[in-house]
Order: sequence, then C-alpha cells, then structure tokens
Amino acid sequence: KPTFSQPPHVDWLTGAFSRTPLLRKTTRLADLSGVFADVSGWRHADPQQVVYDVEMLDTPSGSGELFTGVTHLYPGKVGDEYFMTRGHFHALREQGEVYFGLRGSGLLLLQDEQGEMRLEPVFAGSVHIIPGFTAHRLINTGTEILSALAVWSSNAGHDYAALAGGFAWRVVEEDHQVQIREVQNG
Ligand code: 6PG
Ligand code: NI
Repeated sequence: KPTFSQPPHVDWLTGAFSRTPLLRKTTRLADLSGVFADVSGWRHADPQQVVYDVEMLDTPSGSGELFTGVTHLYPGKVGDEYFMTRGHFHALREQGEVYFGLRGSGLLLLQDEQGEMRLEPVFAGSVHIIPGFTAHRLINTGTEILSALAVWSSNAGHDYAALAGGFAWRVVEEDHQVQIREVQNG
C-alpha cells in the first residue's frame, strides 16, 4: 500500500513556503562588499539592510537530488545600481538550473565563461532555463519584492570567486529608466 504524505506548499503569489522544514539565509548590504559599483554609496548605506532572503526546502542532498528554493530580492539601490544577488557559477560548472518568476519585476543576468551576456525579464510566470557553464544573477528593477523559485542539482554548489572580476555589465536607473552600463575597469 502506498503511504500518503502532504507535500510542501508554496503560495504562488508570494513565494512563501508553509508547513514544512525550511532553511533560511539572509543576505544584507554588509555581506555584499565589492558587489556594487558605487563603493562610497555602499559604505554610507545601512549595513543591516536586507537585500535578499533565500528560503530552501530542507530536502535530501547527494547525487541525483534536487534543491528547491525561493529568493526574495528586496527593491532598492546602491547609488544608481539596483539591488541584486551576488551571482555565481555553479562549482560543478555543467549544472544548469531553472528559475520561475513569481512576483515583482526584474532581470536575470546570465554570463557564460566566454563573457557572453544575456538578460531575461523576470515576472510572475516567467520560466528561465539557465544552461550549464553560465553564471546567474537576479536584479530587482521594480518597486516591490522580486520573488523567484529555483530548482537545481544538490551537487551543483556555488563558485563565487570565479566571478570576482564581476559581471561585465551593470543594471542602473538613469533618468527614471532601466539602463545597462558596461563596467569600467581600473
Ligand atoms: C542556487 C540558486 C539560488 C541562489 C540565490 C542567491 O544555485 O543556489 O541559484 O538559490 O543561490 O538566488 O544568490 P547568490 O547565491 O548568488 O547569492
Ligand atoms: Ni545557481
């Protein structure tokens, strides 16, 4: 006889998980040293300001297992640059990931190992296939919380250091519009 068990439940409007063990990670401005272009703007901002929360289902890890999590990225800017996640390649480079936009509006920035970049708009219902060998970062260009559900291999891991040089483009607000600016080196 099959056993019957309640699955985790996610509210598709808010991305909130309920009635299930969760792992939570909060990332504040203080944790994002070197991420924003405007260093003095970053220094003068409240270091305790929350930039994003990640809530993950507490599910098994290991070869073949998948992780499921929701990122809640708050609206805000450092200087003229929108709040964003740190961004990463997976430690196992070939591992892809799927993002599903739940609420808010923003951009998914993708950059491959050759430095080729691509942006996809993120909105309620958007589906993003992040290929392997591709760094990814969420950017909140709106005025409400941007929430996105992600599913990825539990073995993928994160390689933040590989992007220490940063993404080649930044997303900023200029003249009340979303603009993309090439990073100046030096
Ligand atoms: C992952 C996912 C996702 C991501 C968060 C926070 O591979 O774990 O892409 O859960 O970690 O959106 O972004 P950063 O890991 O870049 O801070
Ligand atoms: Ni990832």
